[in-house]
Amino acid sequence: MNRIPVIIDTDPGVDDFFCIAIGCANPDKFDLKAITTIGGNNFTRVTTQNALNILKLLNTEVPVAPGADRFLTEEFGEPVVSAHGRNGVGEAVLPVSDRAPEPVRAWDMIYRTAVECEGDLHLVTVGPVTNVALAFLKYPDLPSLIKKITCMGGSTLEGNMNAYGEANIAHDALAAKIVFNSGVPIDMIGLNVTLRCNVGRDIFDKMSETTRPEVRKVMQQLIDFRRGEAMHDAVAIATLVDDSWIEWKETRVDVEAHSEKAKGWTMMAPTRIPKDERIHRVAWDMKIEGYYAIFERMAKYYTEEQGR
Ligand code: RIB
Ligand code: CA
Repeated sequence: MNRIPVIIDTDPGVDDFFCIAIGCANPDKFDLKAITTIGGNNFTRVTTQNALNILKLLNTEVPVAPGADRFLTEEFGEPVVSAHGRNGVGEAVLPVSDRAPEPVRAWDMIYRTAVECEGDLHLVTVGPVTNVALAFLKYPDLPSLIKKITCMGGSTLEGNMNAYGEANIAHDALAAKIVFNSGVPIDMIGLNVTLRCNVGRDIFDKMSETTRPEVRKVMQQLIDFRRGEAMHDAVAIATLVDDSWIEWKETRVDVEAHSEKAKGWTMMAPTRIPKDERIHRVAWDMKIEGYYAIFERMAKYYTEEQGR
């Protein structure tokens, strides 16, 4: 099977950790070209170092290109300590990477890679989509070079930043509006599905009996930090590994970018829009067994041998 070229745009991030871990644990499916970083859960300088440290723990070398230091229309907010800890990775202690980030900013890395991949590049966005919006603004031909965006964001039910808006969309709603109106096919995996995909310690401990201890310990710490809940970003990339466990709705999503009360609202188009306008898919329902299988495959990938 041809591997798909992928860039993960991320703000690691407790659940981002598991997105990266799944991304690196499927080398038969993904040609992971780069990780690009953004703020949101913490500042970009922190999320960039976290990405490098996560890759060191996972014994996987992938270029890391730092992204924007602010959202399109405002500065980053304070780190989301309650959900990600002060260090951004649930207070887990990771090995410190001595690798430097690439001397290329995220939006240039995305464009350069998209040109090299000749239209086959997939983006997995699991943070605010500021970098992708900046790339589209700087390179008007870029949308035509992106095969698909798998986006952890939005919700068909309720938000977590306000009643309507989910964090990855609401943090930089203008960027999200630009991305969702770019014409690129998007799979949107929102809170309505991710909040139902929980992997508790009991289940994880059974999945991870052959996981090398230093990786298993960090994963257990992160699962404990989040009480086994809301590994949103892992769910998103899992749908790119295999989406047989997902029920999709074909639609078109727009984003409320201006209303303070409803900022970040992901609005699905009426069902009667013409089929050729339905270029987005929204994860509507899921079968948890499919997600467990992908999570377990990830846990079993990080063996002692993989760590050598
Ligand atoms: O709302 C959940 C999203 O916001 C996840 O990507 C989490 O990491 C935070 O970035
Ligand atoms: Ca994230």
